[in-house]
Amino acid sequence: MVKALRCLILGGDGYLGWPTAMYLSKRGHEVMVVDNYLHRQLAAECNAPALYSVPDLPERCKLWQATNGIEIRHAIGDVQDYDFLSTITREFLPDTIIHYAEQRSAPFSMKGYQEAKLTLINNLSTTFNLIWVVMRDAPNAHIIKLGTMGEYGTPNIDIEEGWIDIEHKGRKEHFLYPRQGSSLYHTTKIHDTDLLWFYVRMAGLRVTDLMQGPVYGLLTEEIGNNFDLLPFFDYDDIFGTVVNRFVVQAVAGIPLTVYGKGGQTRGFLNILDTLQSIGLVVENPAKPGEMRILNQFTEQFSITEIAKMVQEASASWGIKTEISHLENPRKELEEHYYNASREGLSKLGLKPNFLTKEVLQQMIAVVQKYKDKIDTRSIMPRVRWS
Ligand SMILES: NC(=O)c1ccc[n+]([C@@H]2O[C@H](COP(=O)([O-])OP(=O)(O)OC[C@H]3O[C@@H](n4cnc5c(N)ncnc54)[C@H](O)[C@@H]3O)[C@@H](O)[C@H]2O)c1
Repeated sequence: MVKALRCLILGGDGYLGWPTAMYLSKRGHEVMVVDNYLHRQLAAECNAPALYSVPDLPERCKLWQATNGIEIRHAIGDVQDYDFLSTITREFLPDTIIHYAEQRSAPFSMKGYQEAKLTLINNLSTTFNLIWVVMRDAPNAHIIKLGTMGEYGTPNIDIEEGWIDIEHKGRKEHFLYPRQGSSLYHTTKIHDTDLLWFYVRMAGLRVTDLMQGPVYGLLTEEIGNNFDLLPFFDYDDIFGTVVNRFVVQAVAGIPLTVYGKGGQTRGFLNILDTLQSIGLVVENPAKPGEMRILNQFTEQFSITEIAKMVQEASASWGIKTEISHLENPRKELEEHYYNASREGLSKLGLKPNFLTKEVLQQMIAVVQKYKDKIDTRSIMPRVRWS
């Protein structure tokens, strides 16, 4: 039996935040979600509709209580507002704070000056406020921060888990692994990591920084057949992550858009494994003064490999899908070495849910229910890096 913990989720309305809230609530933890609907606002401004609309947070919490008899508390507000975050923290007294509340689209952060500034200020201010609120109001709380595998870039050496031992002119030191983001969004995540590491050293905070790969999927055990509990599902060029976008393109009957050669390789994971990882980390917290960095993905694929897998899974539902290579709107290597370590979460007990044909077929089946709502105008890349 797991000890019930009080978990505050910042960004609890998001693609990962809401499923995390349900998952932790079902495991017996007391959960509170916080959001200012920034994602909904930016998606509307960018003409990037999600596949279906989802209820607002108070409504989702009501639905959850009606379905399971368990309360998920909520507060609507901006984590950039220090007093708001401090008040909630003093009232709720969290054991754990999971920080998802950032602008998380790389293309959005590269769209123009205003978008870049919003991303920089929002992401760093939310992390900075969280650090200060924890130092002042909840010094023993465990901070779980969502970083990204994209912080590491695509170096020509193996990617370690957060840290690397370097020998230089006969002397040795243990450093943060070198980071080189490929968008401003990724660069804000690097700054987050630096800020957290600074305050771990200065104030003895307990931090887990999760370097997560692109997530795919939409069904979780907690949703069951109650589709009103589904998370957002973005498929557009700005907010849609690649597997989810390809599945929607296949269902819409338009070619899968591989950027450039398609040899770009990344570490991916099923949304079920995001939830499993967060559960493991919540229940096995970092120690005071520890900056624990874990790489959160389960498998590596190139974009071309993903496109072929989606094509094959669609074919078994009788859908014929083409793959088209577009001029790459991003500045990134299209063929490169990639070998990242992921031992930490396995040691904690993560049992991966791999990207099989059956998993893709299940996603396609759900997306097909919303086929009429797909807006194909929001799929082709509208943002260029240069
Ligand atoms: N989805 C992925 O594939 C993926 C991969 C790697 C890392 N991540 C990271 O995981 C986290 C969650 O990702 P997601 O896909 O759920 O993103 P999301 O955009 O769906 O969710 C983030 C939520 O935070 C909220 N938010 C943002 N700024 C806020 C603020 N100032 N105050 C209050 N709420 C605010 C947004 O409104 C949104 O609901 C992000 O930090 C993201 O960088 C996601």
